[in-house]
Amino acid sequence: MSINVSDPGGRHRSPLRAFARRALALGGAGLVSVTGVVALSGTAQAAGTPLGAAAAGQGRYFGAAVAANHLGESGYATTLDTEFNAVTPENEMKWDAVEGTRNTFNFSNADQIVSHAQSKNMKVRGHTLVWHSQLPSWVGGLAAADLRTAMNNHITQVMTHYKGKIYAWDVVNEAFQDGGSGARRSSPFQDKLGNGFIEEAFTTARSVDPAAKLCYNDYNTDGVNAKSNAVYNMVKDFKTRGVPIDCVGFQSHFNSNSPVPSDYQANLQRFADLGVDVQITELDIEGSGSAQATNYGNVVKACLAVTRCTGITVWGIPDKYSWRASGTPLLFDDNYGKKAAYTAVLAALGGTSGGGTDPGNGGGTDPGTGTKSCTATYAATQTWQGGFNGQVTIKAGSAAITGWSVKVTLGAGQTTTGVWNGTTSWDSTGKVMTITPSYNGALAAGASTSFGFTVQANGNAAAPAVSACTAS
Ligand code: XIL
Repeated sequence: MSINVSDPGGRHRSPLRAFARRALALGGAGLVSVTGVVALSGTAQAAGTPLGAAAAGQGRYFGAAVAANHLGESGYATTLDTEFNAVTPENEMKWDAVEGTRNTFNFSNADQIVSHAQSKNMKVRGHTLVWHSQLPSWVGGLAAADLRTAMNNHITQVMTHYKGKIYAWDVVNEAFQDGGSGARRSSPFQDKLGNGFIEEAFTTARSVDPAAKLCYNDYNTDGVNAKSNAVYNMVKDFKTRGVPIDCVGFQSHFNSNSPVPSDYQANLQRFADLGVDVQITELDIEGSGSAQATNYGNVVKACLAVTRCTGITVWGIPDKYSWRASGTPLLFDDNYGKKAAYTAVLAALGGTSGGGTDPGNGGGTDPGTGTKSCTATYAATQTWQGGFNGQVTIKAGSAAITGWSVKVTLGAGQTTTGVWNGTTSWDSTGKVMTITPSYNGALAAGASTSFGFTVQANGNAAAPAVSACTAS
């Protein structure tokens, strides 16, 4: 594990991760069917846009670090599947996890995360291939020539196992020292192979999975400083000489000792200007309340202001599983409640907050009179090059209802990558999905709820067809 003494704020400690986003979906066009009559009231409970969908609306992903051993916890998995559309295994792909013994590879924990992600159409960031930390001791014991062989073999075996499944790899992690020297950090790789180990790792990585984006990832490089200057100069040199590199990851672990730098956006931009993508790879910000929320919002805004900032990953889902749990640095509290920081991130992404989490029709609500009925009304809430988010508002008629059902038919070529606040079942053609409630079936007379979905247009921007609403 890691534990960098000079880490600002004592990063490196316990773990956590998570992911997000759920799958399916489609969208519909149009709307409505009404039956029923009159009535009264009801509080509308608009469902909020999930983070992943809101980020998709900005052409970005929004991911979380995930731990395989939490996937069986329903609050964890539901939050991941609902909110996120990318994952990073928090520890499961590290050298000690996959090759603790030389040439004996164990991918079972990492595979669990990758399969989960694939089943939910989430991107996967591979983390990490060559790093001084969480490195088994046998690696440090090798002499130079053997170490070179072991490094290239490790990269080759791991990338081959996940070939075609990884959006971006952190090929080399944390190779530079903190402080003003701009020097490389001492590690078995640096000490025995010299500066050239970094480009050798990237060159090997490119030859194994040419489709994966290859990133250099580090911390304390978030603003302009001696360390980020050193990384910048390396990336510039790589681009000049044709060493394969596609992206730079900025870990972005912040707290009062290591606050969000005022030149964060400018720093991301200067790297992007070198011709690489930039990604915020391990975001967490210690604190609480509005101060934490403001910091989170500013980070998201900085990324969105940089065209080549392709996505943001937070380093865990609920605070309780954070590697820095005592600093409550994440977006969800220990019961998966959304913190002020969540609301700030969603707002910065241009998403819409929900009207609350209680959809119910509880105590004292007038049940209304008359036949159960509902209407369904479609609206596109966000559109972008290549796709859009649709939202269907379900409104009960003059009688309270306990369930509803709507069919959404995708247009030619369209596919969906996520449905939220609804449960989806597909017909055999794969074009028509029937949406029923997830938690939001019970509506008082006149009350409403909504579900949403993301559509990949594949050249067809038409709104999907939405059937009449059936109430029960
Ligand atoms: C951390 C994990 O969150 C912890 O569970 C583990 O004990 C140590 O590593 N930089 C990185 C991440 O690149 O891999 C680290 O993750 C946090 C700092």
